[in-house]
Amino acid sequence: MAYNLLKGKRGIITGALNENSIAWKIAEKAHEEGATFVLTNAPVAMRMGEINSLAEKTGSQVIPADATSVEDLTNLFTQSQEILGGKVDFVLHSIGMSVNMRKNIPYTESNYDYFLKGIDISALSFHKMLSVARKLDAINEGGSVVALTYMAAQRTYPFYTDMADIKAMLESIARSFGYHYGLEKKVRINTVSQSPTKTTAGTGIKGFGDFFDYAQAISPLGNADAESCADYCITLFSDLTRMVTMQNLFHDGGYSSTGVSNEVMTKLGVE
Ligand code: NAI
Repeated sequence: MAYNLLKGKRGIITGALNENSIAWKIAEKAHEEGATFVLTNAPVAMRMGEINSLAEKTGSQVIPADATSVEDLTNLFTQSQEILGGKVDFVLHSIGMSVNMRKNIPYTESNYDYFLKGIDISALSFHKMLSVARKLDAINEGGSVVALTYMAAQRTYPFYTDMADIKAMLESIARSFGYHYGLEKKVRINTVSQSPTKTTAGTGIKGFGDFFDYAQAISPLGNADAESCADYCITLFSDLTRMVTMQNLFHDGGYSSTGVSNEVMTKLGVE
């Protein structure tokens, strides 16, 4: 059911790789809620071409941009304003990649070139995006920016390797930039800390399937899926959350507040 929560709002949505992507669901919901937006992804990710069907479905244009390139991001924000007919009201950062994780390199033996690449793609890109938007004055007063993160930023999950540190940086950028952008333009910046979700990035994590089941058994509401994450992000883009900023918001079915569940105790054989 749609509520017209984003009626008249314009946005930029990154990271929709295929229909499993969290960003894909967010784009579908944003469209349902009345928003117009531009879709973007790294030029290399577009070769698969799946984004075109989402663009068609949502009446959006696609602008390729490597999120590590300030030049590409400048072009993205400039062109988006031209296409959408004004400043944007919301931006989604849904970008993550760790070469160390992809290559199954243990955290203690991290390759530093890969580590730096991971930081650039998954965290610094958020700063670059915000900095470009601010310089161009491309976000309307009261606008909302959301980045997706994971709880490994607060607690250790050995298989999450260098992405844990990278997500901690991403969340910190939301707070730091949120202060400045909030003061200047009332622009809100938050991170949403999402349950394990079956996407390309998610299932690339070693042992993801078992961990997904574990998180499911811990969370009183079960794991939050991509669609419910999209619903939550829509509320954050809407005016209903206009005083929420600089927060890391858990969207995880209660996982982050649960020590242990009866289900897990039973699985361990504890009566
Ligand atoms: P996904 O693989 O569908 O999305 C990741 C996106 O990052 C892809 O569209 C990819 O093309 C894009 N990307 C990679 N390098 C890029 C670059 N240089 N420039 C621009 N875009 C680039 O996977 P998913 O799960 O939807 O990931 C979205 C976000 O959600 C990520 O930040 C991820 O860490 C986060 N997240 C995912 C969870 C999961 O279990 N799937 C849990 C918590 C957070």
